[in-house]
Amino acid sequence: MPEANEPGSNQEFYRIQKLPPYVFAVINEMKAKARAAQQDVIDLGMGNPDGATPRIIVNKMIEAARNPRNHRYSQSKGIPRLREEIVKRYKDYYDVDLDPNSEAIVTIGAKDALAHLLFAVVGPDDAVVSPNPAYPIHQYGVIMAEGHACLLPMASPADFLERLKHLYKTSSRKPKLILISFPHNPTTMSVDLDFFREIVELAREHGSMIVHDFAYADLCFDGYKAPSILQVPGAKDVAVEIYSMSKSFNMAGWRIGFCLGNRKMIGALARIKSYLDYGVFQPLQIAAIIALRECAEDTKKICEVYRKRRDVLVTGLNRAGWPVESPRGSMFLWAAVPEPYRAGGCLEFSKLLMEKALVAVSPGIGFGPLGEGHVRFALVENEQRIRQATKSIKEFLKG
Ligand SMILES: Cc1ncc(COP(=O)(O)O)c(C=O)c1O
Repeated sequence: MPEANEPGSNQEFYRIQKLPPYVFAVINEMKAKARAAQQDVIDLGMGNPDGATPRIIVNKMIEAARNPRNHRYSQSKGIPRLREEIVKRYKDYYDVDLDPNSEAIVTIGAKDALAHLLFAVVGPDDAVVSPNPAYPIHQYGVIMAEGHACLLPMASPADFLERLKHLYKTSSRKPKLILISFPHNPTTMSVDLDFFREIVELAREHGSMIVHDFAYADLCFDGYKAPSILQVPGAKDVAVEIYSMSKSFNMAGWRIGFCLGNRKMIGALARIKSYLDYGVFQPLQIAAIIALRECAEDTKKICEVYRKRRDVLVTGLNRAGWPVESPRGSMFLWAAVPEPYRAGGCLEFSKLLMEKALVAVSPGIGFGPLGEGHVRFALVENEQRIRQATKSIKEFLKG
């Protein structure tokens, strides 16, 4: 390993030195060691969907990949038929009208949309407000763009709104952008349309933009339906929404997402992407059209798989003497570190779970400073293995 300041060390790179190594790497390393020692680790760490992409989508991709016309550079903003299809979905699901040419762009997953949109619209020291803990790019996308990441605690969505209102009243630096995401990773909090009404009103009043990351749009349980921020009349004047194929269709590795809404922001993202990429491989885009058009039932099945796993995990942890609540959205469970272990911090507790129970989880601190005191379980192993995980955790907690 090179020393700091030697050629090749991270310290010499202006942007890289602002990006700390992923906290999750510690747990990943332990997991790799345990597995190398033939130990059976139940991995509820990373939110990486374990299910297969529906066959009809894979078949369409194979068919399209055989056509040499699809081997050329595609369009950076996405092929028109895919943009039309996502716009149609928004009309059918949310009764939202969008223009496929100026209010919709295809992205290389939600991550590309988030990182490059922030890069496009945030300038040095522009304040970007987001709840914390959060998906890491929400904070580091701002830092990479040299903006000022203003992290607000979120005891509940209503609490976040109150803090935001207070910030508008008291801060000399008005937020240029508000970055939110519901159902929320990692806390699993979800909102109703009234929340979006209030936040859109605030943004309009103060001239802020809003980015809503809707990665878990379709992972909702018990009759709950997550609203789109674009359902709020006038939302398009200030907001974009980012939709992802990764979770709704088990297409995480395919890298397809969308950014929809405010045309000025979409235009900025399109401009920056025109310099950076040539779009997603065309057969994948063609297959994504089929996903959006024909796979609503598959999405329901995927959702039901997560719902059952959630129930097994919640029941098992409660039985283990670790009280947790049942989330109505996302593919996670966010759990406060049990009292006897709280003082040691969530990273130490996650290491203990790994060492003593052979269960990998994500320490809350990996999602930002305000994630301390919690761990996140991802529902990415089957029910039987989740049941096994809760039994091992019970044994460990009993001491
Ligand atoms: C809140 C959130 N946004 C975006 C993403 C990434 O989505 P994509 O696979 O579309 O890049 C994730 C993935 O875990 C996420 O949790």
